[in-house]
Amino acid sequence: AAAVTTVNAGKLTMSTNAAFPPYEMTTDNGDFEGIDIEVAGAIAKKLGLELQVDDMDFDAALLAAQNGKSDMVMAGVTVTDERLKVMDFSDTYAEGIQSIIVPEGSDIATADDLSGKAIGTQRGTTGYLYCTDDFGEENVIAYDDGLTAVQALNNGQVDAVVIDNAPAQEFVAANPGLKILDTAYAQEDYAIGVAKGNTQLLDAINGALEELQADGTLQAIVDKYITA
Ligand code: ARG
Repeated sequence: AAAVTTVNAGKLTMSTNAAFPPYEMTTDNGDFEGIDIEVAGAIAKKLGLELQVDDMDFDAALLAAQNGKSDMVMAGVTVTDERLKVMDFSDTYAEGIQSIIVPEGSDIATADDLSGKAIGTQRGTTGYLYCTDDFGEENVIAYDDGLTAVQALNNGQVDAVVIDNAPAQEFVAANPGLKILDTAYAQEDYAIGVAKGNTQLLDAINGALEELQADGTLQAIVDKYITA
């Protein structure tokens, strides 16, 4: 493959928000791990680059790629029409569902029941956008990350949290007394975002993704973190 030009020569710089298990999280030692981190590492290797992870708030991670401060944003990012106006996306590499977390015994049983309730979300996410659209901005609180939103739910500051299903499962497993409703709020596709018009990098990423899919690497990484 032809060499790609990157923000920092020899490196593939990924902006992310490493508080979104199992896609990206920070270990006690301060290392980054998760599906996105490993897939990005595999892509970098295929392109002859070294992966560099830049951890920041989710909205900042999107902007960094959009403005060419990072080569790509990989953060369980949902492809939306709005985002497609400001950045380009790779082929889809995973799927997500917006889930609703409530305390055991909550009277919220369906998405409709969220009406009039205090809903916790992560700033800049599709969960935030859907909830403000459907239930009004005054009912939706935006936290810095999903974990903080879940802590607010634990403390009774919000009645529910709307977040992607995979982190929802991790957060609920770690917080007894919470449960995920059996109802999906929205179905989504995850992809890697790059600056609009950076087709050289996008083609290289898609080529690498295709190879990782074909040789089973992608599935092996997912299986390592998500047990069906
Ligand atoms: N899929 C959702 C979105 O794109 C949430 C992603 C949040 N990711 C993260 N690493 N915090 O808006």
